[in-house]
Amino acid sequence: MTAADSILVVEAVRAGYTDEDILKGVSMNVPRGGVIAVLGPNGSGKSTLLKAIYGLVPRKIGSVTFHPRRGGWIELVGMRPHQITARGINMVPQISNVFPDMSVLENLEMGSIRQRSRTAERTERVLNALPLLKPLLARRAATLSGGQRQTLGIARALMSDPELLILDEPSAGLAPNIVDEVLEKVQAINREGVSVLMVEQKARQCLGIANYGYILEQGRNQMEGPSAQLLDDPEMVRLYLGGRRGRVVDADVAGKTETAHQADGAAMPPVAVESATFEPTVAPRKRGLRGLLRRRGIRM
Ligand SMILES: Nc1ncnc2c1ncn2[C@@H]1O[C@H](COP(=O)(O)OP(=O)(O)O)[C@@H](O)[C@H]1O
Ligand SMILES: [Mg+2]
Repeated sequence: MTAADSILVVEAVRAGYTDEDILKGVSMNVPRGGVIAVLGPNGSGKSTLLKAIYGLVPRKIGSVTFHPRRGGWIELVGMRPHQITARGINMVPQISNVFPDMSVLENLEMGSIRQRSRTAERTERVLNALPLLKPLLARRAATLSGGQRQTLGIARALMSDPELLILDEPSAGLAPNIVDEVLEKVQAINREGVSVLMVEQKARQCLGIANYGYILEQGRNQMEGPSAQLLDDPEMVRLYLGGRRGRVVDADVAGKTETAHQADGAAMPPVAVESATFEPTVAPRKRGLRGLLRRRGIRM
């Protein structure tokens, strides 16, 4: 791996919410076009790492450099999240990743608010990638099931046309049968060229779609390796994959995250995620969003 193959390089990052450092020198590399998993026990600093990359938690020491397709390396330290999004990285936080009082369509529009002229084109592309949202465009986001809502969170992030998508526990709060479908969506989006850095508690399932995994413990790099190697490593299996092969231990997390979703009254049955591809758009369109969607037979 050379630096030229990387889209993001995190080096010796220390960060925290107060004087105390939660991240005590974390390093990792995201290869362009890859899916990288960040795993580890609750409280090990996974969310803090993603937030530190995306400018939501101040970094004290270390560097985070982004290498977009066009242009040279960009140091992200000191940049605000919206500036980072404008450069080509977007993040789906673990909770509060949609505006519950807005419709699905309004949520998508918010995702490209800084580039209004491209909203119609991007909405069409994102809906082709995640067609289960098409019949839901007029629905208030608060009324969506957990799976639908998580899909909307991802869709909203895709509206900024990111080269790198950062996901914090996309399976959080989802019924077990929906988890694989959401992960398949992530995989489909990656196949279309979006690099992915994702935190997951469903470690085994996540390694199933990731190329490489990092394990954090108490704010430090603990273990790393290609997914196949990690899935086979006896220590990894014993400590992080629930002991026995084929069994995934994540009950405490499911319980925790379920609460987050129930807190705003979304305890509805999950709905299956349809499969589709994330098609790159050839030419920008100038037509209005609503008119465009109507012509496509999408009613609001
Ligand atoms: N907003 C916050 N303010 C202060 N401490 C926080 C905040 N969020 C998380 N922490 C602390 O940071 C540590 C790591 O949390 P987090 O990064 O959320 O872990 P993980 O995502 O791996 O479960 C925990 O000890 C947690 O209590
Ligand atoms: Mg977390």
